[in-house]
Amino acid sequence: MTIELRGWTAGPGSARSPETSWRECLSRALASACIAAACMLIAACEEQRADARSQSAVTTRGRELIEQYGCGSCHTIPHVDAARGTVGPPLSGIATRTYIAGVLPNTSDNMVAWIRAPQKIDPRTAMPAVGATDEEARAIAAYLYTLK
Ligand code: HEC
Repeated sequence: MTIELRGWTAGPGSARSPETSWRECLSRALASACIAAACMLIAACEEQRADARSQSAVTTRGRELIEQYGCGSCHTIPHVDAARGTVGPPLSGIATRTYIAGVLPNTSDNMVAWIRAPQKIDPRTAMPAVGATDEEARAIAAYLYTLK
């Protein structure tokens, strides 16, 4: 006897009945879908980990620059060696503050502008421009924004 099903021919003794072929095909398709999904997940995780690594490299550099520029002589700053100054306000929780120095909305661009030239924003402030470049001020701001 020969069964014909949409172009599939399988007779007695044929190793692959149409039913098994469909099942095989389906499970193969599922397996490759799973592999593809797993690959996408792994790729996404890798990307996230790379982002996290570069972000933490930036914040580490920011913390080092804060030490280098002596911000701690005027500010108390969490996790920065010898940063116990009391001239300016403590910078703990700076990430959650609404205003920078009470005058400037706390956005990262404004933070960079403040770090680079505080007196341009508030001519009477006692905080000096320490001479940080734009790139350095961005790294410093990135560290400050870890202080929640
Ligand atoms: C000579 C002392 C001095 C140094 C050095 C100094 N600051 Fe300040 N800083 C101040 C004072 C004073 C204020 C308060 C300013 C105001 O309210 O006008 C201030 C304010 C700030 C604020 C706003 C704080 C808030 O609560 O809104 C930030 C952020 C800040 N400083 C970051 C830094 C960083 C980063 C450095 C190093 C690159 C630094 N400061 C170096 C004196 C200093």
